[in-house]
Amino acid sequence: MTKKLSRKTDWDQYLNKVFENPKLNNSSIFCYESVGSTMDVAKDLIKNQEIENSGLVLAEKQTKGRGRRGNTWEEGESSLYMTAVFSTIKEINEISAFSLVAGICVANALDEFNCQTKLKWPNDVLSLENKKIAGVLIETFSIDKKNYLLVGIGVNLKKTRKVTESYSCVYSETKKLINPVEVVLKLYPLLMEDYNEFYTQGFSIFVKKWLRRSWIQKQEIELEISEGNRIKGGYAGINAKGALLLEVDGQIMTIMNAYNIVY
Ligand code: BTN
Repeated sequence: MTKKLSRKTDWDQYLNKVFENPKLNNSSIFCYESVGSTMDVAKDLIKNQEIENSGLVLAEKQTKGRGRRGNTWEEGESSLYMTAVFSTIKEINEISAFSLVAGICVANALDEFNCQTKLKWPNDVLSLENKKIAGVLIETFSIDKKNYLLVGIGVNLKKTRKVTESYSCVYSETKKLINPVEVVLKLYPLLMEDYNEFYTQGFSIFVKKWLRRSWIQKQEIELEISEGNRIKGGYAGINAKGALLLEVDGQIMTIMNAYNIVY
């Protein structure tokens, strides 16, 4: 296992627990004071063969974080910025539903800190008042005929200017300031375990778990399917591939791509 730290930080006491955890001691874990995006660092580590099969990139600060659909993920300290890397021989369309599984893992990890959350399709983690607390970004990377799934996760832990009427943070929900590595200690083992299950058994075994946390039950929603192009229908859950089901004129439409849900 590899440990990289650019300086001594108050993370050290928590990182020692990561390195002592038998479930984690086969992984390469890289930790940085400040990076552009943990996604790009993960790709560089793969290129340099520093991550071979699986690994984890953590940063205390991220200056060029990215989110889904070309959005930025704003910087701010005391939040969790991580990218978990898994090798795969499957195609992206076979494994992209892992982003929903990662959402379940984040929600389960946050439960451990008494921070209750809901999941909004495809991969937002919301407070019980529907404010975004965390997001998941899936990317793939291929080199020398080896394919990797990169699971980027950002969790707002501390109140920053990002916390507005549509965003919340773990501190606002629980009044506890949690070190990002404490979350990693809960979250990373869950991700590794669920990746193995997902890889061998597919998404279908996670559908019920996801639906139990769904941000809405049956109700009318509005989806933006492309810029300015919206469609309304009845939310009917998700299917065994992780696609959203929308009832329009008595027919069920299967929405695979991550369109924006307007409500
Ligand atoms: C979203 O909700 O749009 C997804 C946000 C994902 C943000 C995380 S922070 C760690 C990792 N590195 C990035 O640049 N993005 C992801």
